[in-house]
Formats: sequence, C-alpha cells, structure tokens
Amino acid sequence: MHLHSFVPTLGILSLVSRPVTAFDEGLSQYVNPFIGSEGPDGTGFGGGDIFVGGARPFGVAKVGIDSTAANWSTAVLNGGWTPDGNVTGFSMMHESGTGGAPKYGLIAQMPLTTVQTPVNVLDNTTYSQARIGKDVAKVGYYKTRLQSGVDVELSASRHAGILEYSFPEGEKHILVDLSHVIPPCLPGDADGQFFAGGEIQIEEDGKSYSGYGTYVGGWNNGAPFTVYVYGEFNNTPDEAQTYSGVNTDPMSRSQGLANGGVSTPKFSNTTKTTSGPMNNRIGVLLSWNDGPAFRLASRVGISSISVERARSYIKDEISSWKLNDTVADAVKEWNEDVFNKVQVPLDDSANMTHVRLLYSSLYFMHLMPSDRTGENPLWDSGEPYWDDFYTMWDIFRCTVSFYHIFQPKYYESMIRSLIDIWKHAGFMPDGRSGNWNGLVQGGSDADNVLADAYVKGLRGSINWTEGYAAMVKDAEVTPYNTFDPTDFTASTKEGRGALDDWKELGYVSQDRNTRCISRTVEYSLNDFSLAQVAKGEKPGDVEKYLNRSAGWQNIWGENVQSLGFKGFLAPRLADGRFNDSGYDPLLCYGCEWSDYTYEAIPWEFNSVYGGDETFEARLDMMFKPNMSKQNLGANGAGITTLINIGNEPDFATPYLYNYINKQAKSVMQSRSLADQYFKDAAYGIPGNSDAGAMNSWLLWQMLGIYPIVTQPVYLLSSPWFPDLNMTINGDKTLRIRAYGLEEGFYVQGVKINGETWTRNWFEHADVMVEGGTIEFELGKEAKAWEKAEVPPSPGHVSLRR
Ligand SMILES: *[C@@H]1O[C@H](CO)[C@@H](O)[C@H](O)[C@H]1NC(C)=O
Ligand SMILES: *[C@@H]1O[C@H](CO)[C@@H](O)[C@H](O)[C@H]1NC(C)=O
Ligand SMILES: *[C@@H]1O[C@H](CO)[C@@H](O)[C@H](O)[C@H]1NC(C)=O
Ligand SMILES: *[C@@H]1O[C@H](CO)[C@@H](O)[C@H](O)[C@H]1NC(C)=O
Ligand SMILES: *[C@@H]1O[C@H](CO)[C@@H](O)[C@H](O)[C@H]1NC(C)=O
Ligand SMILES: *[C@@H]1O[C@H](CO)[C@@H](O)[C@H](O)[C@H]1NC(C)=O
Ligand SMILES: *[C@@H]1O[C@H](CO)[C@@H](O)[C@H](O)[C@H]1NC(C)=O
Ligand SMILES: *[C@@H]1O[C@H](CO)[C@@H](O)[C@H](O)[C@H]1NC(C)=O
Ligand SMILES: *[C@@H]1O[C@H](CO)[C@@H](O)[C@H](O)[C@H]1NC(C)=O
Ligand SMILES: *[C@@H]1O[C@H](CO)[C@@H](O)[C@H](O)[C@H]1NC(C)=O
Ligand SMILES: *[C@@H]1O[C@H](CO)[C@@H](O)[C@H](O)[C@H]1NC(C)=O
Repeated sequence: MHLHSFVPTLGILSLVSRPVTAFDEGLSQYVNPFIGSEGPDGTGFGGGDIFVGGARPFGVAKVGIDSTAANWSTAVLNGGWTPDGNVTGFSMMHESGTGGAPKYGLIAQMPLTTVQTPVNVLDNTTYSQARIGKDVAKVGYYKTRLQSGVDVELSASRHAGILEYSFPEGEKHILVDLSHVIPPCLPGDADGQFFAGGEIQIEEDGKSYSGYGTYVGGWNNGAPFTVYVYGEFNNTPDEAQTYSGVNTDPMSRSQGLANGGVSTPKFSNTTKTTSGPMNNRIGVLLSWNDGPAFRLASRVGISSISVERARSYIKDEISSWKLNDTVADAVKEWNEDVFNKVQVPLDDSANMTHVRLLYSSLYFMHLMPSDRTGENPLWDSGEPYWDDFYTMWDIFRCTVSFYHIFQPKYYESMIRSLIDIWKHAGFMPDGRSGNWNGLVQGGSDADNVLADAYVKGLRGSINWTEGYAAMVKDAEVTPYNTFDPTDFTASTKEGRGALDDWKELGYVSQDRNTRCISRTVEYSLNDFSLAQVAKGEKPGDVEKYLNRSAGWQNIWGENVQSLGFKGFLAPRLADGRFNDSGYDPLLCYGCEWSDYTYEAIPWEFNSVYGGDETFEARLDMMFKPNMSKQNLGANGAGITTLINIGNEPDFATPYLYNYINKQAKSVMQSRSLADQYFKDAAYGIPGNSDAGAMNSWLLWQMLGIYPIVTQPVYLLSSPWFPDLNMTINGDKTLRIRAYGLEEGFYVQGVKINGETWTRNWFEHADVMVEGGTIEFELGKEAKAWEKAEVPPSPGHVSLRR
C-alpha cells in the first residue's frame, strides 16, 4: 500500500506514548474494541452486544470467549464476551452486535488446571472461570487472565485462530468441547440454538484433533449446519482422551435425555468418538502432567466443507507458532484493507477522541457479514458466498452505502452472493446466518441494497438481469409459511410475508397480518427499489412498482391526532375501514413481531406530510425531550425523545431538514445525537451495534454527509475533521475539508470540486466515482446558506385525489 504523511508523526508518538511492539500498529492503535461492550449499568444489558476478540475484515473466524450470565433476566451473551460473566470456553465463531437469541459460540477450547471432582466436563458451572483484572483487546489481539492463573492470548486469521495459554505450575488440561454453544439468554427461548451431534478424533501425532459438530437454531431458527475443525498443539500431551456424555440440553426435534439432570462423561482411550443417534455430547480432554509453568499454543482451523479444508487454513494462514506473528498479520490486513484508506491529521491539534471514534467505527462495520467464498456447503456455482447478513433491515439504511464507496470489491462480491442465494435457495436473504435465510423483520430489504448499488452504477460481474429477477420474486411471490414461533401468521424466513395483502389491497392490513404499519412503509420502499432497477433492466415495470410504492398513503389516517398534529399512519382493516378509535401513534403496542410496528413507534415512520411548516414542526417534535410514551426496554437507551437513534428506523430522521432547505437544523440535531450517544467508551453506542450499522451511522456523521439509500444522492451535513482523505472506488480519493472547524460546526458555505455549491445535497457522480473534493466553510452561526432546489423526492406518486 501507499506511504502516508502520518507515518513520521506516528513514529514520534510511539516513542513517547506506546510500549514498543515487534510490529507497527499503525492506525489500528486508535481502535477501541470495547466500544459497545457495556450498557448504562456496566453489565452487557442495553449495550452493543459486540464481539470482542481476534478477527479479520469480514473474516469467517471470530475467536473469543463465551461467558455465563450474572443475571439471566438481563443476560446478553450474543457476542460471547460480557463484562461480568465467567468464561466457559474460547470459541471460533461469533456474531457481532446482534440482539435476539444468540447464534454461534462454536468449536471451543477451555484450559483447566484440575479435572478432579467436582469438575464435570459436561457441566460448565463446575469449571467456568472468573476473570482477573481487565481484559486487553486490540485489533487482532485479545488477552484475559482466568482465576485459575491461566493467561490466554489469542488472534485470528480469516478461517483459523491461534491461542496461547500460559499455565502456572501444576496440572494442565485443555478441554475441547464440540457440544459447546452460546445458550439462549432467556432459558426456554424457542429460538435457542443447540448441538445436534458430531464426531471427534485424536490424530496419530497425539497432539491434534479433528472432527465436526452440527448445530441448529439460534435467532433465525436456522437449519442444521456443520462446522469441521482441525486443531493442533505445539506440545504433545501426556494423555489424550475422548469423552462422550448423554445430552441433557433441551433440544427441539432431536433425541437426547430429557430432564435427566447433568450427566457425567464417559472417558475413553480410543481415538475417536461420535455422538450417535442420541446426539451425545462429545469432546477430547488433553492433559499434561503436573510440572512447571509453561506456555502452550494451539492453532485451530474451521471450515463448512471438510476437515482437510479446515486443516489447510492453518497451513495457509497461520504458519507460525508465534502468536504475535498472526497479530502482526492481522494488524497489517486491517490497516491495508480498512484503516489506511482514511487519513486525518494526527498532529497536536487533533481531537484524539474523534480519531478513535473514526477508526473504531470502521472496525466494527467490518466484523460482519462473513466472506465464506469457497466455503459454501450447499451448492457449487463458482459465485462468491457470504453469510451472516444479520440483518439487511439494519445495514440497508446506511452501512451498505459505505461498503459501496469504501469496499467496492467486497461489496460486488456480497451482491453476487445475494443473487446466487436467490438462484439456489429461492429468495435473497433479509437475515442470513449459518447458511440459512431468516429472519425478516419488515420488508425484503435486500431489494433496497440492490437498488442502492444499481443506481450508483455498481456493475462489475453482477448479472443484473438476475438481480432484478431476484427482486421481482420478492415483490410477486408470497413465501411459504415456515411457522416460526416468533410469528406464526406468515413467513419470517424470507421474502414478504404479508405480500397477499400488499398486492390485493395496496397496504398491509391489521386484521390479516402482523406489523401492519411498519411493513406497509417498508414494502413501499422495497417497491420503489424495484422501480429504480427496472428503469435500466425492465422499463415496462417502472410505473407498476412506482404506483405500488405509494401504498403507504393507503394507511394514512387523516383524522388521527397526536400532539397537536393531524394525520398519521394508522391501522387499517382488510375491508378498508380504519381501526383507529383509541389508536395512539405514540405507541407501537409492543414493538415486536405481532404488533403494529416493529422496533419503532408509528410517529417514527411518518413520512413527509403537509407543507414545509408542518413538516418542520413535526420533525421538531421528534427531538423534543420527554415526549416519549413508549417504553422501548433495552432498545430505548434511556432516550426520552420520539426519535430513537439507538435503533435503525430513525437513522435518516435528523437529516430530513435538508428537504426544506434548513440544513443548519440537520447539523444541529444530528451533531447533538452523536455527541450525546456516541462515546469512546464501553457504553459508547446507544443500543446494539447491529453488525456495525450503528457505527456506520456515526461514520457518515463524521464525514459530514449522509446517503439517501436507493438514490444516488447524499445530503450535506458538517464534518468533524479539518481534513480527511478517503480512498474510494478502489483507487480514487475523496477529500473532505472543513475550514473554520475551531469556530463552530454550522455550515457557512460549500464548494464541491472547487465549484461554489448552493444545494445542500450532491449526486454520487459528483465525487464518489472519480473522487473529488468537498470543502466546507464552518462557523458559529446557524446560517441558511443553501439557496437552490431541495433534494429530490423521485418516488412521490400521489394517491390523493
Ligand atoms: C452450561 O452447560 C449447560 C449444560 O450443557 C447448558 O445448558 C448451559 O446453557 C451452559 N451455559 C452456558 C452459559 O454456556
Ligand atoms: C463467577 O465465578 C465467581 C467465582 O467462582 C463467582 O463468585 C461468580 O458468582 C461467578 N459469576 C457468574 C456470573 O457466574
Ligand atoms: C436481575 O435483573 C432483574 C431485572 O433488572 C432485577 O430485577 C433483579 O434484581 C436482578 N437480580 C440480581 C440477583 O441482581
Ligand atoms: C487411558 O490410559 C491411561 C494411561 O494408560 C490410563 O491411566 C487411563 O486409566 C486410561 N483411561 C481409560 C478411560 O481407560
Ligand atoms: C504480543 O503483542 C501484544 C501487543 O500487541 C503484547 O502485549 C504481548 O506481550 C505480545 N506477546 C508476546 C508473547 O510477545
Ligand atoms: C490529503 O491529500 C492531500 C493531497 O495529497 C494532502 O496534501 C493532504 O495532506 C492530505 N490530508 C491528510 C489529512 O492526509
Ligand atoms: C474532543 O471531542 C470530544 C467529543 O466531541 C469533546 O468532548 C472534547 O472536548 C474534544 N477535545 C478537545 C481537546 O477539543
Ligand atoms: C445473466 O443471466 C441471464 C439469466 O440467467 C442469462 O441469460 C445471461 O446470459 C446472463 N448474462 C451474463 C453476462 O452472464
Ligand atoms: C382494532 O384494534 C384493536 C387494538 O387497537 C384490536 O384489539 C381489534 O381487534 C381491532 N379490530 C379488528 C376488527 O381487527
Ligand atoms: C399507475 O397508477 C395510475 C394512476 O392511478 C394509473 O393510471 C396507471 O394505470 C397505473 N399504472 C400501472 C402500470 O399500474
Ligand atoms: C424530563 O423529565 C425529567 C424527569 O421527569 C426531568 O428531570 C427533566 O427536567 C425533563 N426535561 C425537560 C427538558 O423537560
């Protein structure tokens, strides 16, 4: 990669303030991997549910701890790491930032210093370990100290991990538990995942093991999927035993011993054991005799295809036994692939809090989805393969638009994979994890992703004939019902479950379907997306889908009043009557799967209505403190305004003042949300990171622009750095300068590519294709600097007569 002007500065900084490491941490040193690891009370509850551990950009392996819950009624184990739980294992696969029932936490090792009674390898409560002191986490590196005195350090490559255990004097054991998973946070959650069998074998060299585990369930109610493993140690144990024990975990549609209490394992000196028809729990226990302290290293590869493949990843990706060789590789990859592509001044004048927020946000939005190209066990098409879209509902709003400019190669590959999934599995995913589509929270939001890429000109090797066909499937074919326990009424797996209503009535009715308001709004946007792509691919369809995209107007309840305003989205029955007596748009009536709106109140879904003045007054109301009536629980982040930046539906809201040429207000509102809720701290984001969606919102805010998804349009706000160079579209440079930042953050004037700009928005082609420069003149005063036409509203077909 290219050399950068910051390098000398960094060199000096490192002499004064950093411990010398064997490699240059470069910009990765500014990442705080704990942002989002805690909620307001110091536990995980209400936090970002992030993964903490070793990972690569969009890598398959995410190596880190799994932990117990201190209090099950407020448990969030989703990312594995918790601030207060005890360690049950170090596992290879994790999600980052997700809510709902956890998924993954698979292929675990656990260091033990005794296996004497009461330790039972089938009962994690008998061996789980409290941690001592503070965990250390950096890009590509994690370290923790267990109460037993064992230090564990780890790192990851794209499909493998390396763990280094520093054992104190005494017995040393490593438990390899193939039946380990992150359990549901709410015991009994129908979406809980479980181990459904596997096989494990000790290799001839006596210090390696191989096998596979099969796992079912998790948040998306996924089908069984299998992970193959090859693991090895740099030291031969004195004893290596396999074990097997009756599976007593609750498992739907699988054999096991119900209500049997915790079982005891049967150890064996045979080299291989399998779960068999009763889905026994299995693993190996490797033991080193009593002796002096020593360091033991392990390398573990994983694959969805085979043990051989899992093993090859160790050879190809982690050739050294030195942990820090892999850490150095990881840091290099993160710097080259991600951090070096954004340059800001790092001299004395820099606000280092802002610098850390910048690079940390970049880090978190590259943890998911996972690039599983070459790792698709389901079909062989030669196309790229991606997993862990978790979910489009979160990332379509502004995360994918960032991938578009910042990671065009990865992004093209993701879109090819979405289309390939439609081709071979029937529908594009809204969520997808463990090779299984699901869940769909609102609309078929991959449509929005494809439209955003299409209107911005992403072509490459994407077959857009097929891409459009995949979108038409979403718009025309009602997915069959998979009777997900979270909502029995229609499919939550893929497609649009309430399409029957949508096609017949032009809205989602309250009596025949769930989430009538939020799904009506989302289906409208989905159909607008179809119209956008149809323009190029099938012009004859444009009018049809543009017409359908106006469907939200069909549930506009003219007479519904709230807080002095009249006219709101309201529940409407299939026979055409509104069911709005006693209806309050300040409430979502639960905000869950069976309610009117999903994870937001109807107020938040209210689109532009009324003249400029009403529009402004309504927007203002969104930001007024203490107006919120709906308790959003953990999704609420203690927010008392109607706008809840802690959840995705409101991402664009603070910027909407641009549509009435009051850009200064967009700046004021969006800055104030960012300042209040985004911190370089453990409680640093206002809710789940959602695969980095929350972090990408902050990233755009810091750049001073905001993308309008499905249109090649960006709104201007106000940047946080005096100068910023970003490598976009592969090898072009977008430069964003802010003069007068020290005076204030209100925009006084803008130049794009040297030309004085009088609109508060610009188009993709202006700076995002060939690169370009945006220069902001900033100052103290809120100024009406924009004089030209407001941003376009191309989707507006009026159903009013
Ligand atoms: C501990 O193990 C038990 C028994 O297998 C399991 O049901 C439980 O979910 C595990 N708990 C954690 C936190 O992993
Ligand atoms: C962790 O282990 C410690 C020490 O064994 C115990 O006191 C504590 O209750 C455990 N905490 C959790 C969350 O299980
Ligand atoms: C667990 O959390 C619940 C809900 O916040 C709380 O009511 C309860 O007191 C907590 N239990 C303990 C032991 O802290
Ligand atoms: C396995 O072999 C070791 C050493 O020969 C022996 O001590 C141990 O009892 C054996 N374990 C079992 C379960 O047979
Ligand atoms: C590996 O690097 C980390 C810093 O990234 C350092 O703290 C640690 O001591 C190093 N470990 C070894 C074994 O050199
Ligand atoms: C951005 O790029 C320009 C042109 O190469 C350079 O002069 C400037 O110093 C760069 N700014 C930063 C913050 O790297
Ligand atoms: C840096 O930014 C933070 C957060 O916006 C702010 O609180 C702090 O005062 C700034 N520091 C300096 C030195 O300007
Ligand atoms: C795109 O897909 C269509 C439909 O499958 C196919 O007919 C066409 O040949 C493909 N185009 C290219 C360039 O591969
Ligand atoms: C009208 O809405 C109320 C809840 O606000 C609901 O209980 C009732 O069933 C709805 N009526 C019909 C006919 O669906
Ligand atoms: C779109 O709506 C307009 C106005 O209602 C109607 O005239 C037209 O036929 C519709 N077009 C299609 C393709 O449905
Ligand atoms: C909001 O309500 C809280 C608690 O009742 C109160 O302390 C605060 O002053 C109120 N804020 C405003 C702006 O009214």
